[in-house]
Amino acid sequence: MTAAFAARNAHGGHPGGVSGKLLDTSALARFVDPLPIPASAKPSSLRPSPVDPKLQIPYYRMAIRQFQMGVHRDVPPTTFWGYDASCPGPTIGARSGNPVLVEWVNELPHQHIFPIDHTLHGAEADKPEVRTVVHLHGGRTGPESDGYPEDWFVPGQSATSYYPNRQDAATLFYHDHAMGITRLNAVAGLMGLYVIRDAFEDGLNLPKGAYEIPLVIFDRSFQPDGQIHYPVSGKTGAPWVSEYYGSAILVNGKIFPYLEVEPRKYRLRLLNGSNGSFYLLSFSTDPSVTSTGLAFYQIGSEQGFLAAPAQMNLLILGPGERADVILDFSGQSGKEIYLRTNVAIIMQFRVAAKKAADSSTLPAMLRPVPRIQESAAVITRELTIADYQNRLGRSNVMLLNGAHWNMPVTERAVLNSTEIWSFINLTDDSHPIHLHLVRFQLLDRRPFDLAVYQLTKKIVLTGPAVELPAGDLGWKDTVRVDPMTITRIIVKFEAFAGKYVWHCHMLEHEDNEMMRPYIITES
Ligand code: C2O
Ligand code: CU
Repeated sequence: MTAAFAARNAHGGHPGGVSGKLLDTSALARFVDPLPIPASAKPSSLRPSPVDPKLQIPYYRMAIRQFQMGVHRDVPPTTFWGYDASCPGPTIGARSGNPVLVEWVNELPHQHIFPIDHTLHGAEADKPEVRTVVHLHGGRTGPESDGYPEDWFVPGQSATSYYPNRQDAATLFYHDHAMGITRLNAVAGLMGLYVIRDAFEDGLNLPKGAYEIPLVIFDRSFQPDGQIHYPVSGKTGAPWVSEYYGSAILVNGKIFPYLEVEPRKYRLRLLNGSNGSFYLLSFSTDPSVTSTGLAFYQIGSEQGFLAAPAQMNLLILGPGERADVILDFSGQSGKEIYLRTNVAIIMQFRVAAKKAADSSTLPAMLRPVPRIQESAAVITRELTIADYQNRLGRSNVMLLNGAHWNMPVTERAVLNSTEIWSFINLTDDSHPIHLHLVRFQLLDRRPFDLAVYQLTKKIVLTGPAVELPAGDLGWKDTVRVDPMTITRIIVKFEAFAGKYVWHCHMLEHEDNEMMRPYIITES
């Protein structure tokens, strides 16, 4: 954990989710519901590939619907929106190099379940209330299939995306990206995993099948009737709030679930699917939140394997970030292990007493991650992250590089060129910054003097670069940009030319101007 890291999360003291009218989720019985595992999506047929019509490729039809889900044994059913009427949606499993088609079908009702802020860009009163568009986060996808925020479609319509899957094995996820209402569609439940596997991974002999468990983590607050609570600002006609922190942390859609495991190695694919919460995650035999966590190994970051497993006992995961982890329960026979944050218990693993066979391995080396040399960069862009507040200190708007969504495109990269993007965080919070299409490497995080910058626009570094945890040295697509820190990434813009977006993955920020188009040009 870095000294500069600053963010809040569920139970983290933010008043947003605490109110007398809400369900007291901390009082719910713990570990009474088994952990659900999202279903595997099944293709409904084969269809000709749009790029090579002689080739028949899997075609999935994913209906986006309103449905009811039980988040806990003692909570009345909750209305959610979900892909194939589930949250998380079915996991799409793809092989690297084997393209698929997914038809995303909007079968939602015509009314939203949360109040829309029509003062936000793209969500004006003349826009239909219910709109969706699906983005495959981390996907190397052509611009026409990437889920551009303005390419939304309404109930009764659908959009078909072509995913080439020409990329390394990695844990991706699909989610809503509709302009100005992404935060509301996401809170309603619109997300699911998309796992790409490849031959290299097959050769690693990692735990698989029943021993590979996805953990999609997000927080929600609930009303006593079981419905999701999403707060409003109190400002007439402008209900947007700057962050959403729920009182309960759910895993795969359950509050305080448990999972029965064998005393052997497991592979856990973690996704932080929260709108705004960062999690400091650890595993422990002790439910008390003050003890030190068990050792585990991170084997992958957002865009695939690390060069080697990294032993750790604490993992920071911001919204949109993923981690691939090996946890060894052997030696824990008959015990209970807890997944928790620094302030709250999330779930329980019940380790069976009986000895278990385990022929899987944790290789000493994984996939080489060649470092991109800084000298490869043709340009360094300095991009500020700022929060513009009113006289009461409340956020009005949050901007990337001082620019609104609809201002002319300022980030233009040439196809196959390499750039350094230097994020200058002028706010008091960490922001997870995501670029569509590309994978990148984190160069460094360096503290700087904010006061001097505000007066002179000059960067004065105040100390050495912060030491990067091993998980930050792998391929990433979303990176935590800490307050009063300059975070530099190096990125090669490859695979497609066209218009994409980059944005903060705190969805309240994204919906209020913290998102910008960028363009990759052929030359
Ligand atoms: Cu996960 Cu542009 O998003
Ligand atoms: Cu942000």
